[in-house]
Amino acid sequence: MCGIVGYAGQRPCEEILVRSLKNLEYRGYDSAGIAVFEGDRLKTVKAQGSIDNGLVPKLEQVGQLSAVAGIGHTRWATHGEPSDINAHPIGNARVSIVHNGIIENYRRLKEFLISKGYSFESQTDTETVAKLLDYNYKGDPLEAVTATIAELEGAYSLSIIFREHKNKIYAVRKESPLIVGTGKGEMFIASDMTAILEYTREYYLPEAGEIAEVDKDGVTFYDVHGNVLEKELNTAEWDVTAAQKGGFEHFMLKEIHEQPAALKNTLTPRIVDGMPSFEECGLTDEMLRNYKNVFIVGCGSAMHAGMVGKYVIEEIARTPVIVDIASEFQYRNPLITKDDLLVIISQSGETADTLSALKLGKRIGADTLAAVNVAGSSIDREAKMSVKTLAGPEISVCSTKAYMVQCAFMYMFALRLAYARGTITADKCREYTAKLLETPQLIQECIDRKEQYQRVAANIMNAESLLYIGRGLDYALSMEGSLKLKEISYIHSESYAGGELKHGTISLIEDGMPVIAVATQTSLYPKTASNVEQVKSRGAKVVLVCRDSAEVGAEAADFLVRLPDTDDLLMPLVAVVPLQMMAYYTALDRECSIDKPRNLAKSVTVE
Ligand code: F6R
Repeated sequence: MCGIVGYAGQRPCEEILVRSLKNLEYRGYDSAGIAVFEGDRLKTVKAQGSIDNGLVPKLEQVGQLSAVAGIGHTRWATHGEPSDINAHPIGNARVSIVHNGIIENYRRLKEFLISKGYSFESQTDTETVAKLLDYNYKGDPLEAVTATIAELEGAYSLSIIFREHKNKIYAVRKESPLIVGTGKGEMFIASDMTAILEYTREYYLPEAGEIAEVDKDGVTFYDVHGNVLEKELNTAEWDVTAAQKGGFEHFMLKEIHEQPAALKNTLTPRIVDGMPSFEECGLTDEMLRNYKNVFIVGCGSAMHAGMVGKYVIEEIARTPVIVDIASEFQYRNPLITKDDLLVIISQSGETADTLSALKLGKRIGADTLAAVNVAGSSIDREAKMSVKTLAGPEISVCSTKAYMVQCAFMYMFALRLAYARGTITADKCREYTAKLLETPQLIQECIDRKEQYQRVAANIMNAESLLYIGRGLDYALSMEGSLKLKEISYIHSESYAGGELKHGTISLIEDGMPVIAVATQTSLYPKTASNVEQVKSRGAKVVLVCRDSAEVGAEAADFLVRLPDTDDLLMPLVAVVPLQMMAYYTALDRECSIDKPRNLAKSVTVE
């Protein structure tokens, strides 16, 4: 959600800034801009629209820049519509900034600055920070930055340049992500590692409130009082090819194809003696035995993975699980206690609501266990225990492989919990684990059956609205299927527990309305089949997603989508693939912007 970059080196920086911004465009894409040290001035070029349609043509008009240091931004609007004026960088002739996050007290700061004679031209909260920096600047940039951040409330990361301090960049973060990358004779600033992977894999992670002073020769870190800090250099495990499309038309399709490998990478290192183990993060069987309740909190797809977790944990570990949406959890005074475990799920590890939920759990004294895909992210660092899901960078805004590995984490957790609590034997635990390790192959088989998804897509692409139904784990999965479709194809859809339809929603069914029925749970199949009959007899066009082994005649539905078989409990890992791919091909047929759906951004760092 908004991407920030910075470069200080010896090469012309314009191309590097634009390339890095393009790598971050999944964080926001309604406007973009750069500000660089050009001669003895700060030169800003910014434009509404995507980088290719807005910023790049504008830079071409401006002509070649010779600057070797500057900052850049790609925006997801929070305050003020997408426009040239509201685009970042924002500032004046002396100071220019790019900002990710929200300044909650910007109105009060703005009034103060107006009383000091400043005027404002944008509708952004960011402009107050730029003007406050200008107000606090008396010749020493570090002093100006520390004085300014002392006044700011909210979550933010900032990169700042001062005209009088040529080729130096100041960066600071509070909750919103920021890294400082190091190269040879050049330094980088970015919201996340994918932006700069083609230049370096070495990076520093500033903590909240720390200030980085960057020039081509290196970085110095300061605390809020201006004291110099020592920091550890990290090396990213991801390589640059992981963040490129590699011949696929869209990142989403590439990431769907990466799921077998992502799953294998996430599972294999955690299997010890034939069963999942969480010793690596300090979660012992004794702890697992003692927790009273398990809370699982996340947003969107991450929360849906938690729903799968709930069904599986309650089934095999017989432990009560409360799944909550992070934005609800934090404001509803949840009944979590210090005897409970709070499981936090997040791909980015930066989602603001999820991070707040984690902090709330910690304040109450619950143990916290995070499953994150980005090592070193805020949630990874904040949680007492953290497990890294190893999907590699997920670039498409629409999550696929990250959801897959989040589910994998939930299975491993459920199995270990069940074993620790004695609700399954060691043999049973090993048996499930062996089957879990077979799922990457089944997922590959599902991916290879793409014609069946394309056929369904061609038939639902003109629908105005549709329903997903399922029961038990199939219901948990339907939630994810419905989100995938609406997110990228803009067709309205809802997911419903099959048995609940007749209590109101069935009135929506009319002739030709598509209903996607997920029916992979053997014991629930007859029940879902009845629900299918109910909607068919009211004119619905039914897509039935079922196992290869299900004895279903062609007449059971308008379209059958068949899946390879595994244990009921593990079917969601397999069955999510058709739901992802039907959504993908439908969006493709509708010519939607698949990797960057309208109004959305990856990594939602504002509440
Ligand atoms: C949907 C999607 C979102 C994210 C949600 C949480 O395709 O990607 O619903 O799952 O914004 O993001 P993370 O996992 O980064 O906390």
